[in-house]
Amino acid sequence: MKILFIGDIVGEPGRRAVSELLPRLRRQHGADLVIANGENSAGGSGITPKTAEEIFAAGADIITSGDHLWDQKEVTALLQNESRFLRPLNYPQGTPGQGSVVYQASNQAPVGIINLQGVTFMPNLENPFVRVRAEVERLRRKTSIIFLDFHAEATSGKTALARMLDGQVSAVIGTHTHVQTADEQIFPGGTAFLSDAGFTGPHESVIGREIEPVIKRFLTLQPQRFAVATGNVKLQGAVVEIDEATGKALKIERISEPIANPS
Ligand SMILES: [Fe+2]
Ligand SMILES: [Fe+2]
Repeated sequence: MKILFIGDIVGEPGRRAVSELLPRLRRQHGADLVIANGENSAGGSGITPKTAEEIFAAGADIITSGDHLWDQKEVTALLQNESRFLRPLNYPQGTPGQGSVVYQASNQAPVGIINLQGVTFMPNLENPFVRVRAEVERLRRKTSIIFLDFHAEATSGKTALARMLDGQVSAVIGTHTHVQTADEQIFPGGTAFLSDAGFTGPHESVIGREIEPVIKRFLTLQPQRFAVATGNVKLQGAVVEIDEATGKALKIERISEPIANPS
């Protein structure tokens, strides 16, 4: 089984990259399942039913999120009604939405998907290490194929969590920093790992935003409006191949593809 994962989709350019490139990438890699992080898909901050629909229409099966979850108030509709949408697992009990799902396509083994958020240099959610351990145990009663999007800032935390789950899940792929790392590997127990998938959107930017206002903010320490940038649009992510019988990863490959006219 092959899972194609797409890193944080940023704004209209990011959604355009997904619409333009995903159908071909899906075919080219023979992906059985497509998971995309959509936390920045609405104007660069948050997600709405409309931007989610665009991502699903382009061929994504599941959308994950992260710390920008609440930026658009329409997200409540997704949290309440959309079974293909995940929020980070480690919110308190009673938070709307779901932190994991078992995806079952016809003629295919079930796949458990978990969305988790880090707590280092990020809002203080519940301990991701503790929460994910219990969730993996629960999901493993249903399937040995488990994919985790760990939305987190600190590389050490991402690596440690993935090492903790080595042999328990098929893949741990990090999101949030918007910078694709070159550390893709398969750990000894069979868990594929990449500490950050990168982002899908305009790369002539500071992690997706226009350059000048970001520099100005660092220089003056005053708030600025950060518009989504426009140039050099790319889709970034990874493809993981998994042995369906054991749930162990066989291969992980990074993806970084420009759109036809990335300007
Ligand atoms: Fe984030
Ligand atoms: Fe993001």
